Amino acid sequence: MHDDNMITIVGSGKVGSSIALQAGMREIDGEILLIDIIKGLPQGEAMDINHTLAEQGRDTIVRGSNEYADMQGSDIVVIVAGVGRKPGMTRMDLLNTNAGIVRDVARKVGEYAKGSIVVTVTNPLDPMTYITLKATDFKPNRVMGMGNLLDLSRFRSFIADELKVSRRSIQALVIGEHGENMLPLVRYSSIAGIPLTQLISNEKAKELVEKTRKVAAEVIALKGATIYAPANAVVEMLDAISNDRRVVMPVCAYTDGKYGVNDICIGVPAVIGREGIEEIIEVELNDEERTIFENGVNAVREAIRSLKL
Ligand code: 2OP
Repeated sequence: MHDDNMITIVGSGKVGSSIALQAGMREIDGEILLIDIIKGLPQGEAMDINHTLAEQGRDTIVRGSNEYADMQGSDIVVIVAGVGRKPGMTRMDLLNTNAGIVRDVARKVGEYAKGSIVVTVTNPLDPMTYITLKATDFKPNRVMGMGNLLDLSRFRSFIADELKVSRRSIQALVIGEHGENMLPLVRYSSIAGIPLTQLISNEKAKELVEKTRKVAAEVIALKGATIYAPANAVVEMLDAISNDRRVVMPVCAYTDGKYGVNDICIGVPAVIGREGIEEIIEVELNDEERTIFENGVNAVREAIRSLKL
């Protein structure tokens, strides 16, 4: 066994089990625990994934459980419990249904996995990350949400398609609300260091930004859910935390004055390592970008207020 670290994933539906499979294939940690309230589901997923990993020669052990207490000793906990978007819904439409679920799960994490770093995935992502932070009562660096990294994977794919270059050459950034006011930053995107603004027109850039904002709804209309890309983005975060890589990536973080915003969780670039959010990086925003960023902040603040936490 290469290490004895443990990742717990609460929620063993399609995204949760896909995170376990992808993390196991990359041997991010020695042990992965899948938890779900549905009897049999996490146990069955664990068996299926272990059989895959055995054939692939991967030594990560996956277990399934219906008991929250089993998460004791976790280094990282992923919260993906709750219901997903259905065709025609926005992420915010899930607010009231998922707030209670995430709060309950986060309280259990605060109780059983005190030393862990938490990654929230449930939508609407930014308010759910805030709920996680408050309900665990953890320090802000130890609670983050996965949203913008997924948005970024889509933005990168559209840029690569448009320029007909390898996806590997694309560096880009998406910050802000993981929702209607998502902010893909064209000015902070480049191809092998060459600013994107030198390679495509303003109109084309606007088109790619709009596609990035809307494409999740398109996938959901076609196949009912987004699964592999969100799972992949979570696994990138798990790798950065578990291996203390200090990767710079956008995550949903408690801002506490950064970007002129207080007492809220919103997507910003950060250094991610063993301590979780090691540092938030502030980039300068022009008027247009700042307006979109602030619209996102206001939408998240309003959502949190409506929950009367
Ligand atoms: C996504 O962007 C639905 O938030 C989820 O795929």
